[in-house]
Amino acid sequence: MKAMTYHRYGPPDVVTMTEMPKPVAKSDEVLIRIRATTVTSGDWRARSLTLPPGFGFMGRLVFGLFGPRQPILGTELAGVVEAVGNEVTRFKVGDEVFAFPGAKYGSHAEYRTMPANGLVALKPANLSFDEAAALSFGGTTVLRPLRDRIGIKPGDKVLIVGASGGVGTAAVQIARHLGAEVTGVCSTGNVELVRSIGADSVIDYTKDDFAQSGRCWDVIVDTTGSAPFSRCETVLRPGGRLLVVLGSFATVLGIGRPARASGKTVIAELAIIGIADLVDLAELARTGAFRPVIDRSYPLALAAEAHAYVDTGRKRGNVVLSVPQ
Ligand SMILES: NC(=O)c1ccc[n+]([C@@H]2O[C@H](COP(=O)([O-])OP(=O)(O)OC[C@H]3O[C@@H](n4cnc5c(N)ncnc54)[C@H](OP(=O)(O)O)[C@@H]3O)[C@@H](O)[C@H]2O)c1
Repeated sequence: MKAMTYHRYGPPDVVTMTEMPKPVAKSDEVLIRIRATTVTSGDWRARSLTLPPGFGFMGRLVFGLFGPRQPILGTELAGVVEAVGNEVTRFKVGDEVFAFPGAKYGSHAEYRTMPANGLVALKPANLSFDEAAALSFGGTTVLRPLRDRIGIKPGDKVLIVGASGGVGTAAVQIARHLGAEVTGVCSTGNVELVRSIGADSVIDYTKDDFAQSGRCWDVIVDTTGSAPFSRCETVLRPGGRLLVVLGSFATVLGIGRPARASGKTVIAELAIIGIADLVDLAELARTGAFRPVIDRSYPLALAAEAHAYVDTGRKRGNVVLSVPQ
């Protein structure tokens, strides 16, 4: 099969096309013929080893000390089940599915096997393969934190900083679905997009500073690293929560985290993701509450070009790689 691989950390052109053996499903696995996958900020980080402050050594341990351990990037995919192992009952040949290998990567290829009881779910029929491929990365990052950890309630005021990115576009739609009054922060060119996916109001950060707006929020989600607690404290309501999607290792460990006595808390743990999350995202998509935003689509062979675009840090929603059939 054709796969886009990399063998050293570096710029987009470290990614090249390679011919590899087609994987074979083990007894408890499905073999998926991939129709679409994405290039996410996670692929950019693993490819270039550009990691948030304090994560450098841990990143090398995870991705490979001297070079990438997993040569195929791609955290998420959508495709068709081509074969199932003899113990598999959850899926059958021909099922249209989406999957989230996440930090195990391996989706920038024509085929991938997945454990049948792993992060695979039936594709919502109303989504294209491109859209279904883009359900998981942004969706799983915010679904559980917003719905379960923070427990957004109807009427809560939620600010999403970085509302036009892969995670931000998911956060706007999911917060809105939970009944929040959503404010998105983005640059001028993305104001209409953020409004179109359900934000009640938008702050253009090139013109206005949310921290000086005189408004307050119950929940602030920062996907950019530009809204630390020190900047958000005065615009968080008493009891408000700051969800840090992008933060330093120290932030994730809770170093310098404000005392709970302040009534305002920072949430920075990584979400633990299970099959139920994919099933829930599929249901949100089926009902129209969450539709992944697609910015651009490239053929799989042009993955390096897609990486170069993602590297700009300016993508709107998701960048897809479509796999020729
Ligand atoms: N904690 C976790 O588990 C987890 C999971 C997934 C991702 N992440 C991290 O979260 C970050 C965001 O991921 P992503 O996939 O959403 O990235 P992305 O799609 O590449 O984000 C690009 C978007 O960010 C916006 N942006 C950049 N600087 C901004 C600023 N100062 N204010 C407002 N918007 C800004 C850009 O809009 P403009 O062009 O309008 O500026 C662009 O639309 C990444 O660093 C990623 O590593 C963490």
